[in-house]
Amino acid sequence: MKRFCLLAALLLTALAPSLAREVKKTVIAVETENSALVLLVQENGQVFNLHYGTRVGDAQQFLPMAVDSDDYNTASGLAYPATGGRFIGEPALHVKYADGTHNTELYYSGHSIEPRLGCITTSIRLDDPVTGLQVNLVYDAYQKENVIVTHSEIVNGGGRPVQLLNYASGALYLDADEYLLTHFHGAWAADMQLEHEWLGHDMKVIESRRGTQATQGNNPSFLLSLGTREFRENEGEVIAGALAWSGNFRLCFEQDAGHRLSVLAGISPFASAYPLAAGDTFVTPDFIYTWSDQGAGGASRNLHRWARKYSVYGGGEINPTLLNSWEGAYFNFTTETLLRMMDDAAGMGLEMFVLDDGWFGNDYPRNGDNAGLGDWEPNAQKLPEGIDYLARYAHRKGLKFGIWIEPEMANPQSNLAQAHPDWVVQSPGRDIYQGRNQWVLDLSNPEVEDFVFGIFDRTMQLAPHIDYIKWDCNRVIQSFGSPYLGAEQDRFYVEYTQGLYNVMRRIRDKYPKVIVQCCSSGGGRVDYGALRYCNEVWTSDNTDALSRVFIQYATNLIYPACVMGSHVSTVPNHQTGNVTPLKFRFDLACSGRLGMELQPKTLSAEERTLADRCISSYKQYRDLVFSGNVYRLASPYDGSYYGLMYVSEDKSRAVVFTYCIHYEPRNVGGKSFKLRGLDPSRTYRVTEQNVNRSCWWGNGQSFSGQFLSSGAFNPVLPQLYSSAVFLLEAE
Ligand code: DGJ
Repeated sequence: MKRFCLLAALLLTALAPSLAREVKKTVIAVETENSALVLLVQENGQVFNLHYGTRVGDAQQFLPMAVDSDDYNTASGLAYPATGGRFIGEPALHVKYADGTHNTELYYSGHSIEPRLGCITTSIRLDDPVTGLQVNLVYDAYQKENVIVTHSEIVNGGGRPVQLLNYASGALYLDADEYLLTHFHGAWAADMQLEHEWLGHDMKVIESRRGTQATQGNNPSFLLSLGTREFRENEGEVIAGALAWSGNFRLCFEQDAGHRLSVLAGISPFASAYPLAAGDTFVTPDFIYTWSDQGAGGASRNLHRWARKYSVYGGGEINPTLLNSWEGAYFNFTTETLLRMMDDAAGMGLEMFVLDDGWFGNDYPRNGDNAGLGDWEPNAQKLPEGIDYLARYAHRKGLKFGIWIEPEMANPQSNLAQAHPDWVVQSPGRDIYQGRNQWVLDLSNPEVEDFVFGIFDRTMQLAPHIDYIKWDCNRVIQSFGSPYLGAEQDRFYVEYTQGLYNVMRRIRDKYPKVIVQCCSSGGGRVDYGALRYCNEVWTSDNTDALSRVFIQYATNLIYPACVMGSHVSTVPNHQTGNVTPLKFRFDLACSGRLGMELQPKTLSAEERTLADRCISSYKQYRDLVFSGNVYRLASPYDGSYYGLMYVSEDKSRAVVFTYCIHYEPRNVGGKSFKLRGLDPSRTYRVTEQNVNRSCWWGNGQSFSGQFLSSGAFNPVLPQLYSSAVFLLEAE
């Protein structure tokens, strides 16, 4: 038997096609207006990533360059490194074949370039001649935005099923002396906490295994400052990247002995050895990246421009100001409570009322977080007149109407959980763990997909016109398992997220106009995958303005301000106990999509006047928040002040936000900010908002853009929580 195997192996080796094919050495340049990703097809058919960064003029100049190919070569820098051949690093692709082997070697078979409006798509086909596996690397190069979006299509062209053990969306290979990684970790009420880390030669992995609330621990995004250990806002080379995926993800950063950095981004392979039948194709999520030599600010602006135009649902459109019922009423309300809140919302000039949790469930009324999820009919005792009555009332008042759902979940105390125990995520014979007293529904099951779609669909029918849905998701997946998938549990995590997207796609087909907020215990789903279907996110359950300074600063490094739901709540703050002045709360909330989340009745007459004033002024400049370019003036992580501004594309208007977040004794003068993004040669009239006496000596006067950028703009922010907002209008 042994001898037979040896013979067979020798024969196979003899018959095996030569892997290293002879192809014409070729340079493939994926270019945007200011950046270039240059790939080199070697004569043996291997495709390498040569350069990502600035445009290089004619990229064909790279043609004579050779990639190391001696015996010690470990094939680092492959455009899509696969386990096999000489490659022994962290792979983008690792496939286990039906015969138990693990080796894949991908060789170039051709490429195509297809220009579209504003974007050029380059597709490169790679083949493994032994196993028939094929990979198409697709790069969309957004010209003006300088953003490249890449994904991979993995085709099982062999005759037998395979298992995908790693299947990253894409790989980058960078060459700089050193790298500063900026990434975002977090927890409930502490979303998007910024961390800078100088990368050594070990491997740095950023991963989520949370299943649903993919981003509350880590966010699938990063910035890399090249050739420095310093995070620089305005200068230097920075790459920003993000994965468009709302499920488990993994980002890997691996530096080799030559200081080159391999970056991989993709779905996490954790418990997800994905089976791919013969002939089937797996399409990975998008890996989005941009390069800028204008520091982190330039990278953010590139991403934001791209996101507003091509990615965020309804990106760039203005979402209404709102009053949300949650922190003002929680589960304790009647129709009367809500009507009075609507009166106040309309009175203050807000534009929408959002009824949050607590409106549904009859057999198991939702009077707390322990019951009712799954039974989505209005609670007849609390709201005998129904949702229709509330929505009509809101509309009569000139308000839009929104409502909260959490369709992926069931409380054990619900008719749903009792009728469909097999729809709950669970593993045979094991406890089904609860989180916030609830279970997760199994979205890998198409029947559950239909049900979840139905919840949205029926909620939309509760009134002739629902303008806004807040889609919540309040727990992670633990002890995972799908009764539907049987022995194929490896598919679970991937298919849960695909199921979620299937539902969202159907929703968008049927309800293109409804505004959807993506919430997951706050910022548990802040990612470009969800944002393809959602207009905005609930940035964090932490509504304390001081905490929000840090959360919003970091969120906005990657995601545009138009998606950041930002609410004024009461004091002491319900999460932190912190007490901040109402003006500071407004000034901070106005740097995102402004809302309020408190019982308006608790405001004094003086506070109501201030609220009215802030809301009305916000409407004058919010187009800048929604579609302007951000320039960060001072990082809250660096000192006592936070400052940022949004400038219109044509530089004719800007809004500047400034905040004091630590008291600086003896700082009697103003805090000098160098305004950015203005036209130096134009003159801007500067008007402070919402005050009778300005904190800047130049208020009401006009200055050149050059002057304002010099540091002469120095509002006096003398105390902790002093804040000021200025509108700049070119004359
Ligand atoms: C968590 C959300 O983040 C809150 O804003 C609120 O909607 C609650 N869920 C309701 O249960």
